[in-house]
Amino acid sequence: MIPYTLLEFDTLNSTSDFLKENHSYFPHLTMIRANYQAKGRGQFDRLWFSNKNENIMFSILLKEVDIKRVGNVKLWILESLITFINSFGINCYFKEPNDIYVDDKKLCGILIETQTSEVIYDYVVVGIGLNINQEDFNGLPATSFKNILKSKQDLKKLFTKLVNLMIKDYERYHI
Ligand code: BTN
Repeated sequence: MIPYTLLEFDTLNSTSDFLKENHSYFPHLTMIRANYQAKGRGQFDRLWFSNKNENIMFSILLKEVDIKRVGNVKLWILESLITFINSFGINCYFKEPNDIYVDDKKLCGILIETQTSEVIYDYVVVGIGLNINQEDFNGLPATSFKNILKSKQDLKKLFTKLVNLMIKDYERYHI
């Protein structure tokens, strides 16, 4: 299996900002997870709110990605996430630009950010917010594993399973 680096924090402003600010210190395929983000970010400069210890929030650093292959990053992430979600018997679908929905509610948001110099992206940071045990989303059209499966999930166990699946899938995408 391809080597990867995983670091876990209790609190960060944003796992994606942490990786963007520190990308030069970490190798390709570094993953950063936090139990809580004080300034989590979503698409279109929106904030991403998530209760502490309730959801999977992490970012992945990919270095020196050929511009021709950046589409593969999205395919890899989506395939792994959808396979993971389906493995719990949950039917989900991709919704543009980068969301995964169940019925008409968002289960997962993905944020892909790049820094480029000509034909190679210096880095790609993929941020993933997957709702696991949060029940209430302040009236937003969102849902979680707990709401769908009607039972509390073991967050750490699910995260480990997701990372293993992603690393296994990674090699098929030639990133
Ligand atoms: C969206 O649907 O708007 C994208 C949400 C992405 C949220 C994740 S949580 C982990 C990572 N860190 C952030 O600040 N944002 C992404």
